[in-house]
Amino acid sequence: MGIFTKKPIGKLIQDAGDGEKGLKRTLSAANLVALGIGAIIGAGLFVRTAAAAANNAGPSVTIGFVVAAVGCALAGLCYAEFASMIPIAGSAYTYSYATMGELVAWIIGWDLVLEYAVGAATVGIAWSEYLNKLLEMFGLRVPYEWSHSPFESVKDAAGMMHHGMMNVPALFIILMITMLLIRGSRESAVVNGIIVISKVSIVILFIVLGWSYMNPINHANYIPQASIYTDTQGVNHNYGGIWGILGAAGVVFFAFIGFDAVSTAAQEAKNPRRDMPIGILGSLVICTILYILFAHVLTGVANVNDFRTVGKEASVAYAINTYMPGYGWLANMVTVAILFGFSSVILVMLMGQSRVFYSMSRDGLVPKIFSDLHPKYQTPYKSNWIFLILVGGFAAFVPGDIVGDMTSIGTLFAFILVCAGVWILRITNPEIQRQFKVPAVPIVSTLGILVCGAMIAGLGWTNWARLGGWLVIGLVIYYSYSRKNSKLNNNKE
Ligand code: ALA
Repeated sequence: MGIFTKKPIGKLIQDAGDGEKGLKRTLSAANLVALGIGAIIGAGLFVRTAAAAANNAGPSVTIGFVVAAVGCALAGLCYAEFASMIPIAGSAYTYSYATMGELVAWIIGWDLVLEYAVGAATVGIAWSEYLNKLLEMFGLRVPYEWSHSPFESVKDAAGMMHHGMMNVPALFIILMITMLLIRGSRESAVVNGIIVISKVSIVILFIVLGWSYMNPINHANYIPQASIYTDTQGVNHNYGGIWGILGAAGVVFFAFIGFDAVSTAAQEAKNPRRDMPIGILGSLVICTILYILFAHVLTGVANVNDFRTVGKEASVAYAINTYMPGYGWLANMVTVAILFGFSSVILVMLMGQSRVFYSMSRDGLVPKIFSDLHPKYQTPYKSNWIFLILVGGFAAFVPGDIVGDMTSIGTLFAFILVCAGVWILRITNPEIQRQFKVPAVPIVSTLGILVCGAMIAGLGWTNWARLGGWLVIGLVIYYSYSRKNSKLNNNKE
């Protein structure tokens, strides 16, 4: 017994309970693709694309999308094998506890906080930007001070400096969604369907209508020469060249997060062996094509300087309003669809977060409070409240760029562990039944590690330091609390 203790797979299935064991196999490949798209398209596309163009790659952010998609596809295949090995719904945390032992499981679970909780904060901050766009339609606006973190400032047209204090709208949407979650609200299939259709429609409409408004001058310097760009907050970025593209890939990688949701539906798929790769790769392919075209049009309609200054926030609505005369209705439609679409992404992420910590709490790795259920709604309400403090704190007081990059780097690290894990398990446990097998292991898994590693490299040392700091805090908690309280390690199971 120790840090390599593995949870027996039989025990895992038993723990999953009747509800999960009895999940029906109802999802077709098309349903899985829709599920993926619903979880994928969000702030990454509508906010981070412009940030990556401004800070890292200019128009070549499109190539960044290709790199990110390749990394996701490689890791996605490994995810699918992992998920198909253990026939219960779950996340990378659950799979790794059964296969790679407690310490790796802890690291992945801790890392998933960056993906889900910090990711939800990022989308909340993006929601706040578009809320202001909506209010502008009515001649209103939340003042800069109350819609930005204390680390942001801006000079207005009259030359007056404004400093952020607290992002109230971001905190508000996180609070609303938390309360919905506590009531046990899940998004219904119908609502998900409507949101998927509206998100995809506005992306296609923008591509089609914006195409003729692209200005060739904006694309003249497609891959800018390598240089250092210092943003308005004084942060240096590698701009242009290969490092610019890798940095952009790391930033827009955020736009793909969520496709792993498909892998968690493994035992609800009618024919997992065939449908899982179709679901994961199909949603990735569709989103990648849409993303590349969208980014191409966005960087053609508006220019990099816009994204660094007046068009930094709610950039898509800004580009339409400024450069596509007569299409104000489209900007309004995009804004409203985004506000609903972002809310559903936040819901999925916060739910994923409480689900992971629920499992970790049942295993004794985090305190019992994270698995206490509400007497009436049967939801982990205490966990939801605690995460409201963390997620709300990030959303209210940290800039979107920082939380967005933390989400990307944390998720990339989890993907690397998943790629490595699939390969290791082929050697250590070849006998476990795999409904889906990654082709050409170890080539695919190694490439997954390399491409995700390259994006981590592109995100730069400040983000490496943040990830390192996060992992150190996680290890301190593991050795001071989790290891001592682990049910498996203490033979309580
Ligand atoms: N992929 C999701 C988004 O872009 C997380 O909002």
